[in-house]
Amino acid sequence: MIHTPSLQELREKINPHNLPVHIAIIMDGNGRWAEKKHRLRVYGHREGINRVREIVRCSGNIGIKYLTLYAFSIENWKRPRPEVNALMRLLKEFLRKEVDELNKNNVTLRYIGHTHKLPESVQNEMKRAQEILKNNTGLVLTLALNYGSRTEIIDAVGEAVKDINLGKISLQDLNEDTFSKYLYTIDYPDPDLLIRTSGEIRVSNFMLWQIAYSEIYITQTLWPDFKENEYIEAILDYQKRHRRFGGI
Ligand code: IPE
Ligand code: IPE
Ligand code: MG
Repeated sequence: MIHTPSLQELREKINPHNLPVHIAIIMDGNGRWAEKKHRLRVYGHREGINRVREIVRCSGNIGIKYLTLYAFSIENWKRPRPEVNALMRLLKEFLRKEVDELNKNNVTLRYIGHTHKLPESVQNEMKRAQEILKNNTGLVLTLALNYGSRTEIIDAVGEAVKDINLGKISLQDLNEDTFSKYLYTIDYPDPDLLIRTSGEIRVSNFMLWQIAYSEIYITQTLWPDFKENEYIEAILDYQKRHRRFGGI
């Protein structure tokens, strides 16, 4: 008989000395999950939020320091208006409902992306949640909202040029380290592990600079089915990798 390890058994397999510091996730497949069940796509987004809650909690418990979730891309505005509206509504609902649990779990919240272009009611909810969580010291949860990595890089170039013109830095000072401070992720370590659900083998304009040396884990599982056990499997898989960074 094949023994399916319990969650507890899986957790115990994790080597605490080789944890990814930063995990980034492209949460994909909500729509297909719902369509498979002959439901509206929004139903999949709603179920997807339950996984967000679980994965955030699990990350804190394991001792992950940074978790970055791709929740809405700049390109996602191309979707039908009702779906976009539903996503905005769900985002507000998530922030309102989850803030207490996030607070209990010592989570701080950050955002990356052109969040100033989101509806005002969404921005208000974002600020409110961020304010409540601002003094926490545990997991840094980052939501990528209205995020596009090419835009992020162009924004960074703009800021860097501005500082050069102002004489704050010189062109000679610009290197990978100093440039990366202009990205939205300012002081984050690069993701060690990038997870994408739903089997798509692409990065969809997500953290192009930051994932230069990330280990990539792609699973066929659709995001609403991505449970804690598979998340731990992904971390265990990461722990088996030999990261060379161009060396030997
Ligand atoms: C990911 O699921 C959620 C967002 C992009 C907001 P999708 O909505 O992309 O679901 P699929 O990929 O169409 O199945
Ligand atoms: C990427 O998923 C964006 C998010 C998960 C928020 P998409 O579903 O938008 O990506 P593509 O269109 O399949 O590349
Ligand atoms: Mg998708």
